[in-house]
Amino acid sequence: MTTTATRPGGTRPRAAISAKTLRTDRWWLAPLLTVIGLTAWVTYATVRVFMQSDYWVAKYHYLTPFYSPCVSKGCVEEAAEFGRFIPDHPLIPYAALTLPFLLLFRLTCYYYRKAYYRSFWMSPPACAVPDGHKTYSGETRFPLIFQNAHRYAFFAAAIISLINTWDAVVAMHSGDGFGLGLGNLILWINVIMLWAYTLSCHSCRHIAGGRLKHFSKHPVRYRFWTFVSKLNTRHMGLAWITLATLAITDFYVMALSIGWISDLRFVG
Ligand code: FES
Repeated sequence: MTTTATRPGGTRPRAAISAKTLRTDRWWLAPLLTVIGLTAWVTYATVRVFMQSDYWVAKYHYLTPFYSPCVSKGCVEEAAEFGRFIPDHPLIPYAALTLPFLLLFRLTCYYYRKAYYRSFWMSPPACAVPDGHKTYSGETRFPLIFQNAHRYAFFAAAIISLINTWDAVVAMHSGDGFGLGLGNLILWINVIMLWAYTLSCHSCRHIAGGRLKHFSKHPVRYRFWTFVSKLNTRHMGLAWITLATLAITDFYVMALSIGWISDLRFVG
C-alpha cells in the first residue's frame, strides 16, 4: 500500500514507497559482473607490473604493453627503445613513466566512472534503485573534481598508443629481417583496439567537433567527428575489449618468455 509525500521544495505529491526498489529484474547482475571483472583485471595487472620479469621476447622483439615504454635501469637493453633512466627498484614498475597516465585515463573515463560508481560505490547501483549513500555531492568538489582531468589524460593516452604502435612495428623485425607470427597478430589487434578505445573517448569527440558553429565550414573536422561519433557509441564495449586484449597480449608474451609455449610463425 502506498501513501503520498510532498516533494522537497515542491507542491506535487509523490508516492511514498516503503520498498527499497520496485524493480523485480536482476538489476544487481551488471554491477556484480563489473566488480568481478574489474577486480580480476586489476589484480592480474598489478601482479604482472610488479613481477619485473617475463615481459620481453628477444628473438621476436615482443614487448608486453604493461612494460612499454621500458624505461627503468632494470630493463633489458634491447627492450628499452626510449632509453633507461628511472631507478631500478622492486616498487617502481619498469613502465612507471606512463602507467600513472594510463591509470588516470581509465579511472576518469566517462564509462568507467559510471561502472565503478554503480558497482563499487552503489551510487546508485542501477536505475530506480536507491543510492547506497545518504549524501550526494557529485563531482563538484575534492576529490572527484579531479575527474575533470580526463581531457588532459586523453592526450597522454594518445601518445602512449603511439608508443604501443611503435612496439608493434618493431616486432615485425625479428632476427635478420621481416618476421610474422601469432605474437605479431596479437600485438596488432591490441594496438588497433587501443586506438579504437582512445579515439572513441568523449573528450576526443569534443576535440574533434566541439564548439563548432558551422560544420560546413570545417569539413575535415566534421568527417573526423562523424567517425569518432560512430566509435563513441561503442565506447563501453571497447573499454572491456581493450582490458581483454591487454591481458591476453601480456599473457602471451609472458608465456613465450617463460618458455611455456612457442610462437606460431608464418614468416621468419
Ligand atoms: Fe572513456 Fe574518454 S570517455 S576514455
